[in-house]
Amino acid sequence: MIDLAERHTFKLPAKSRSLVELNSSDAVEQLSFEEPYYLLGEGSNTLFVDDFQGTVICNQLLGVCIEERKTDYLVTAAAGENWHNFVTDLRTRNIDGLENLALIPGSIGAAPVQNIGAYGVEVSTFIEQVTAWDIRAKRWVEMTRGDCEFAYRDSVFKQHPGRWLITSVVFRLPKNWQPVTHYSPLNELSGRVTAQNIFDKVIEVRQRKLPDPKVIPNAGSFFKNPIVAKDQLDELLKKWPDMVYFPVADNQVKVAAGWLIEQLGLKSEFVGEAAINPYQALVLINRGQASGHDVTQLAQKIMKQVADVSGIILEPEVRLVGQHGLIQLLVEK
Ligand code: EPU
Repeated sequence: MIDLAERHTFKLPAKSRSLVELNSSDAVEQLSFEEPYYLLGEGSNTLFVDDFQGTVICNQLLGVCIEERKTDYLVTAAAGENWHNFVTDLRTRNIDGLENLALIPGSIGAAPVQNIGAYGVEVSTFIEQVTAWDIRAKRWVEMTRGDCEFAYRDSVFKQHPGRWLITSVVFRLPKNWQPVTHYSPLNELSGRVTAQNIFDKVIEVRQRKLPDPKVIPNAGSFFKNPIVAKDQLDELLKKWPDMVYFPVADNQVKVAAGWLIEQLGLKSEFVGEAAINPYQALVLINRGQASGHDVTQLAQKIMKQVADVSGIILEPEVRLVGQHGLIQLLVEK
């Protein structure tokens, strides 16, 4: 059995039957993809909550290529490149657009799967194409932004886990850059705002609120911010007039789940060594020796209390892998 603790940022004490490190895209065609298998990047959004009776395939493909065109840059990055190093590299070259997404843990290949987002920007806005190996059809595919079916923390890749192995992503970054500063606390930036100002501010805020996974094992936001209809919002506002929410569509809003968890007084909750991060309640942390069971128990406890009090069913944002593959958490009645 292979130890997976160092292969995911929550560092749970799980093992897998086998593990393959993928270092060249030619090798992709030779892989057998015998079930069950799990595709992994840097493991910053996956928790191995049990010993996985299958093969973990670690995507470690490297390389970045920048093409300058008249009005934009086309940047192709291999799936195993580190996301923040990529954002930093573009910043130093004055290629702007991704600065709101600085310091997000993980790899390039995971970015389209999760449609990573922060401080008012989602990566899908900049994705031109995703190159992937279609495991079922055994052929290469080049998927456009439309093919990827992006939504809030969602994509066709997340909807069909294990169907495609992403090898590279092409980003289109227009030279006519516009700062995105409507999201708090970027709206505190005053005067002529540069991409460097945003980059620095995002890093400062993330370092203050979100635990560094290298120091305190975690996987970022554990739950998605739930999307509710305006009618349900009106009911919630009767109970919590100060509730934090963001508009998403005409009739829908996204409720700040971290705010809700904090209001329910759950910030000091823990099960065994799994706990809620005291600085940002949407993040769960491993105090050191947490087991997968500790984490699933804590998550279900939070889900049940939130459901009982608000009627909202929280959905994990992270992916939980059990003995035979992905597992879903249900709210206990
Ligand atoms: N809030 C509280 N208490 C808390 C947590 C949040 O009152 O314990 C309030 C904040 O004060 C703020 C609002 O809730 O008014 C939203 O909080 P925040 O800006 O920290 O962001 P979030 O909605 O909790 C989302 C993303 C993060 C991303 C931030 C910043 C999701 C699931 N999470 O979190 O992404 O960094 O916005 O844009 O959408 C991740 O996906 O792993 C992640 C960290």
